[in-house]
Amino acid sequence: MIELPASEKAPANTFRLPRLPRWRSLLRSFALAKDPLPVLNDTLARYGDTVELFIGGVEKSILTRDPGLIQHVLQKNNRNYAKSKFTQGFSRYIGHGLLTNDGPDWLRQRRLIQPGFHRQRVAGLTGLMQEITAETLAPLVAQATSAGGATTVAVHELMTRLTFRIIARSVFSTNFPEAELDRLAGLITEIQAFFVRSIRQPYLKPWFRLRGRFAYHDALAAELRTLLGGLIAQRQQANAQPGSTPPDDLLQMLLDVRYEDNGEPMPTDRLIDESLILLVAGHETSANALTWLTYLLAHHPAEAVVIQQEMAAVLAGRTPAFEDLPRLGTALYAVQEAMRHYPPAWMVDRVALADDEYQGLRIPQGTLFSLYFHGLHHDPKYWAAPEEFRPSRFAPGAARPVQANAYVPFGGGPRLCIGMQFALTEMQLVTLELLRQFDIEWVAGQPPVAVQPLITLRPKHDFQVRLRVRE
Ligand code: HEM
Repeated sequence: MIELPASEKAPANTFRLPRLPRWRSLLRSFALAKDPLPVLNDTLARYGDTVELFIGGVEKSILTRDPGLIQHVLQKNNRNYAKSKFTQGFSRYIGHGLLTNDGPDWLRQRRLIQPGFHRQRVAGLTGLMQEITAETLAPLVAQATSAGGATTVAVHELMTRLTFRIIARSVFSTNFPEAELDRLAGLITEIQAFFVRSIRQPYLKPWFRLRGRFAYHDALAAELRTLLGGLIAQRQQANAQPGSTPPDDLLQMLLDVRYEDNGEPMPTDRLIDESLILLVAGHETSANALTWLTYLLAHHPAEAVVIQQEMAAVLAGRTPAFEDLPRLGTALYAVQEAMRHYPPAWMVDRVALADDEYQGLRIPQGTLFSLYFHGLHHDPKYWAAPEEFRPSRFAPGAARPVQANAYVPFGGGPRLCIGMQFALTEMQLVTLELLRQFDIEWVAGQPPVAVQPLITLRPKHDFQVRLRVRE
């Protein structure tokens, strides 16, 4: 670690944090907006695992990759920490579903919805996940076969299409007309991109207002809600038909639950909020994880062979069932390692509701935390050779077992990702099917793939791999 100037050091015998002065934060803010990870990593390498800085030179925040402090905020004293105003701002467009909600209302909704994500429901969605994966890969198999055995594909585009179809049909079952599905996905993408821009470049807000950009995106959000409201109403009408058998999907789960206190079903507005949040939270994260996994496998073909060999031994050519997944661990370890390398939720924020303390560190009310998962996942204190892709580190009996609080791709504490089991199953299945059908090869001559940390960690530009049909 670099020796700090006296003005930036914590005084002896106090627990004051190392502090990046406002002027230095401001200087770095331009580099930070352009390419955040190297700037954040450099800051932590220079100042230590936890540092006070000013986001964009303005907003005082504590940046940390300390697993103990992260656990303190997310789990041990979670009641004292709410989502920051950045996350809350998102609710203007996507409503108050679990991800953006807070306090007693969040807890009431979470208690209501949590049981709906039980193992059996996820198991019940396995067939649907496989069907959509096969449907999405079939044209690529045909294309590759007619082109002499291989075809190239833009990976992020493919994975985004695939995971959106999986979550949309897991929530709504409906066999969406292609145009409606694309409109739904397009609305979410456009709203999200605008929201991120308005946070990253707050100084553009007056300009956005002048150009009617807020009103325009409010209208998109209203269209989105109308679309979902229509799908929900259709289901309610279908359910009201005598002798109807409702599908066992996530919307039906939301329709069936009853509040413990008054026995009432969820009102329509909340149904829209919660189903929308599942679409938003449930596709880009998985799409990015699968995109990075494909990137890593293309660069480490030997790891793909390990998965293919295990699959051949366990399945002997048949498609895996949910019950087979525990015996197909190598695909899961590769997924886990990809999310260590490239955690889709690379940073999570919280704000302190009241004064608090962590190991002598005074945390005044209003302190904003940036919990830097990406930094923690690459910290050599917890990971041997952190820059290497080594799925076997997640295998039982690995030489250095994974320290649970150093691996947090799904967050932690009571707000742990509600879709974790769903996502892990989905990603394991997609990986298995992709590698059952194809060998993945890197297409030479592409520019280096840079990361773009927006709400999730995605590639700055899409990239291609060659999919070679397996014998
Ligand atoms: C690779 C895939 C995924 C990753 C890495 C991921 C990550 C996360 C993380 C880190 C959080 C906690 C955020 C915080 O504490 O501020 C979260 C929350 C959430 N996730 Fe996921 N997620 C994934 C997939 C999914 C899927 C598939 C669904 C839905 C089916 C989903 C639904 C949600 C919801 C509703 C929340 C809010 C939970 C609450 O606050 O009560 N996620 N996710």
